[in-house]
Formats: sequence, C-alpha cells, structure tokens
Amino acid sequence: MTPDSPPATGPRTASPVKRLCGTLAAAPDKSVSHRALMFSALADGASQISNLLESADVTATARAVAALGADVRRDGPGVWTVTGRGVWTSPDGPLDLGNAGTGVRLLMGAAARFELEAVFTGDSSLSARPMARVLDPLALMGARSQSSGGRLPVRLTGSSALRPIDYTPPVASAQVKSAILLAGLGADGETIVREAHATRGHTETMAPLYGADMEAEADGAGLIVRVRGGRVLTPHDLAVPGDPSSAAFALGAALITPDSAVTLTGVMDNPARNGLYAVLRDMGADLTMTPAGTRAGEALVDLSARSGMLTGIEIEADRAPSMIDEYPILSVIAAFAEGTTVMKGLAELRAKESDRLAASAAMLAANGVQVELGEDYLVVHGCGAGGVRGGGVVETRHDHRLAMSGLVMGLGARAPVSVDDVAMIATSYPGFFSDMAALGAPIA
Ligand code: S3P
Repeated sequence: MTPDSPPATGPRTASPVKRLCGTLAAAPDKSVSHRALMFSALADGASQISNLLESADVTATARAVAALGADVRRDGPGVWTVTGRGVWTSPDGPLDLGNAGTGVRLLMGAAARFELEAVFTGDSSLSARPMARVLDPLALMGARSQSSGGRLPVRLTGSSALRPIDYTPPVASAQVKSAILLAGLGADGETIVREAHATRGHTETMAPLYGADMEAEADGAGLIVRVRGGRVLTPHDLAVPGDPSSAAFALGAALITPDSAVTLTGVMDNPARNGLYAVLRDMGADLTMTPAGTRAGEALVDLSARSGMLTGIEIEADRAPSMIDEYPILSVIAAFAEGTTVMKGLAELRAKESDRLAASAAMLAANGVQVELGEDYLVVHGCGAGGVRGGGVVETRHDHRLAMSGLVMGLGARAPVSVDDVAMIATSYPGFFSDMAALGAPIA
C-alpha cells in the first residue's frame, strides 16, 4: 500500500546558490489528502483519489482507515482507490499516526460515531501534543476516551448514538472544528461549530461532494458550520490541489536568492490558507498569481515569485489562522528583509510539531539574526543588504517545517546552513529535495 522510496535522513547542509529558476507543479496538499482518504473511507462504495500526497503523514492515515474497515489500494503514483462500507469497526491493533496531528485528530472525530474501540498512538512529537481540545467536545457528544493528561496514547470508545452539540472551540483550529464536524456526521440532529476566526475550511468544502448535509456561513471574521447527521456518504472521485504550505518553501527560496524567478503551478488559493501572499506583498515581494481552474472544489493559481529586497512589517494576530504553518519560513524571509518584522498572536505555534515559536527564534539566532521572542510574538531584525550570516546548525526538533526553513535559509545566506535531521521532511513534502534541485539548488 505504501510507496517505497526511502526518505532522506540525518543532517544536511544547504550552501548559498547564485540563483534559482524554473517552473514546478506544486506538491499535493496534505490537509486535503488526509480528508480525501477519510471521506472516501466513510462513504459506501469506491472513490478514486488522484494526486494524493504520498507523504508519511498521509500514508499513516491510509493505513489507519484500512485498519478501521475500508479497502485501500494504490493504483499508481498518487492514484489511490478507497472503498468504504459506510461503517467503521474496531481495528485489530493500535492505530499509529506517526507525526500526523491532522491524521490523529480528524480520525478520532470520524471514528467517534461508530460502535468501536480504537487506540491511537503517535511518535514522540505527536505524543507531546494536546488532544483534549478534540476529546473534550467529543465527550460532550457522548464518545468516551482514556488517556494520560489528554496526550497519546488515547483509547477511544465511539457510539452510534452521538448527541449533536453547539460548540465554540477555545482555540482557532481547523483540526478541532473538523473532528467535531466528522463526528457530527453521525449525530442525531444538527451539530454546530462556531469559529471566532475562520480556519481552513477543507472539511466543509469536501463534505457535500460526498453527499454530507454540511454547510458553512461567514460570521464577521469567523464562521458558523452546521452539519446534520444521519446520511450515508456517497463515493466521489477527486484530484488533490497543490499545497500552499509546501509551495512556500520554493517561493521563499526565490525571494531571498538574488536573480531568481520561480513559478509553482496548481497551488490551492484558499482565503484561509493564503495569508502569506498578502504579507509578502506588504513586504514588497514581486508575486504574480494567475487563476488555474479548480480541483476538489478549491480554486487554483499558478504562483510566480521574483527575488528583490523586502521590507519588514508588523503582522497582526488576526492574520495568523490564514498562514499558521508558514511562520517558520516567513521568519527566514524576514531575516533577509530590510528593517524589523513583528509577528503577533502566535501562541498556537507552541503546540505544533515542535514549539515552532521558540524553534524559529533559535534557528535564526544560530545563524546570526537578531530576534526577540515573547510568549506569543516574534520580532525579527532583518539583515537587509548586509545579508544573513548563516554558518549555524538548526535544531529541527522533529519538525519538518523547521528542517525545510533552515535549508532554504542556507540557499540565500553568506555561509552554508546545516540542519540536524531531515527525516521529518518526508511527513509533508517527500519531493522537497528533488524540487529544490530542479530549481537549481542541490542540497547535499
Ligand atoms: C490542519 C490544521 C492546522 C495546521 C495543520 C493542518 C488541518 O492545525 O497547522 O498543519 O489540516 O486541519 P490546527 O488545527 O491545530 O491549527
């Protein structure tokens, strides 16, 4: 079931390059890939998914839905057929979701509405991340769980008689929202999730494609999503759009490397995911977006970036949900800008694959960039025309986005930048090294 290209592991060093140029198809989106597998596995019948991201996080979800009762088959590169039976059953052993926060949190929600018992586990990074934010609302709906302090491993006991809830998550999290909505597919009545700040809406966009009775409505800066339970989902074929979060690395590399021009085709252009582009434009970046159709209900663009000196800006907290995964690479881009960049409202970064706020600050400091780190903010004093010193080693803390950000920094810095381990890059962007090489940046 799993594609068998061995992932790169161990330390790597990225050396300064003269220029980057070329056109790449954007890597498939991780969030949409997880959801496509889950919805297909919930439906009654066969769905074909193409352009599925074949990363470690996503294949962990594929194995988990197979263990919960779906038939999962890889037909060829990126093409998978998932045949659901409309009902999930207890798996024979623990479901190991590896490093995948989206995988484990959404699966707990989706599984909660069936008469089953499942144990969810993960790697050391995932086992340190909070699960109560999902388990608490699921408990209100009638699912039971056992864990130590709301951390993995979690033993979940689902129920086919879940109660609908009207819930406002205490944190801006698409994973929390989605877990409740997936459980709500089986609840007896209307489940409502209210978000003060809208987070990525891929669950709401995809659910109706599979025949679910779910809809979202804007509510100021927030969102109200309603799902009425009880429908058996129907199969649906879809193609996964390109991942804006993975595209951000080539985009960032082009912006900080002199004389560079890079185009990424087929990038998902979703208002809850594209906050980085507006920020970069405010910093003076030369970005062009050309509409490129739709996939899986999501708009696509071809995205082009050209290098040039950027200027530091203040980035307010309300922008965070639309670019939450992009702060490590944005902090690198800010290090190359002229002047100071202030990023606010970042407490949630401390609950990601690593404490991304502290890890980003440490990454920059190790390479000669002056930073100020607060409980929920980061200030980066850009090096401007003098350039980023580089020459440091980045501690990646089991975090794929730290590893890729550190390597991108090395492409534009005055001296090479090393990262202590690249193994986790395979969780979200297994094509990272070949994509960077294709743009003119081989990383040894
Ligand atoms: C995701 C939601 C975000 C994001 C993660 C993917 C999703 O997490 O950081 O990479 O697919 O729903 P939170 O919901 O915890 O903010």
